[in-house]
Amino acid sequence: MDLSGRDFLKLLDYSKEEILYLIKLARAFKDKKQKGEFHRYLEGKNVVLLFEKDSTRTRCAFEVGAKDLGMGVTYLGPTGSQMGKKESIADTSRVLSRMYDGIEYRGFSQEVVEELARYSSVPVWNGLTDEFHPTQMLADIMTMEENFGDVKDRKLVFLGDARNNVANSLMVICSKLGINFACCAPNSLFPNAELVETCKKFASENGSTITLTESIEEGVSGADAIYTDVWVSMGEDASIWEERINLLRPYQVNSNVMALANPNAIFLHCLPSFHDTNTKIGKEIYEKFGLEEMEVTNEVFESNASKVMDEAENRLHTIKAVMYATMRK
Ligand code: CP
Ligand code: NVA
Repeated sequence: MDLSGRDFLKLLDYSKEEILYLIKLARAFKDKKQKGEFHRYLEGKNVVLLFEKDSTRTRCAFEVGAKDLGMGVTYLGPTGSQMGKKESIADTSRVLSRMYDGIEYRGFSQEVVEELARYSSVPVWNGLTDEFHPTQMLADIMTMEENFGDVKDRKLVFLGDARNNVANSLMVICSKLGINFACCAPNSLFPNAELVETCKKFASENGSTITLTESIEEGVSGADAIYTDVWVSMGEDASIWEERINLLRPYQVNSNVMALANPNAIFLHCLPSFHDTNTKIGKEIYEKFGLEEMEVTNEVFESNASKVMDEAENRLHTIKAVMYATMRK
């Protein structure tokens, strides 16, 4: 499989075989890392990481992944570069392409990462936009494979804001890999109808289904993986919290929800998560709305079914696979 020179902007651009290949490569990298085996295959190359939003996992996975592969790394945060203020995306992209061998971008509109890629002569990787978060799902599916083996015909259910970047990307990857996908949310938070139609076509080609439902019983029944994400995403106005809490409180992942799923079902979350009041925002929400846990209870988050730390670790191996596969000559 030759993916060299390809961008990684959204999973819609990748075939089922290409996605499975990247996950297989990630498994090989995980094995090498665990055994301490040499894999500085990209020595002498350099990558630049552009972050217009905060990050822990994605930034660290790109940095450690690049360094493990022998590469140099430059991080440019929301302030401190000319991008967007004095320099257009097109000019930034062309300049960075002259110095670097790969460009990662996390920001707001998907259009920006697509534009970066249009002007870049080196691979561009999407580290999260408002619409998609494609590297996350490689780690999610890798984690499902570690628990279930072949994931085809399994069922993944997303509860929460089903229009967000994580839910959109999950729907795409599930439909491409023949995993049954359901989202449980109030219908005002269902994903974009056009994207649903596109994914339904992939799903029917791959023998799986897509279900949008307001009913937790219907959505969660037969689930192998229960997935949730924050109720308010980065870039959304803080004034939306009250409305979102009112809409999504009934969709919190708690032990009752887990009990409706298959007996060996796992819990997944891209993280960060509000499962207690040990965060600044968590504390503010508690003081304002009396809610100690939001999208998932602490009990479920800390349970044996929760695979969120494996999932977080797998970000490193999958992002390394994406960089290696697309940069390799
Ligand atoms: N899951 C994820 O993308 O985490 P960060 O925002 O910490 O990168
Ligand atoms: N939907 C979340 C995902 C964070 C990894 C956000 O965009 O903030």
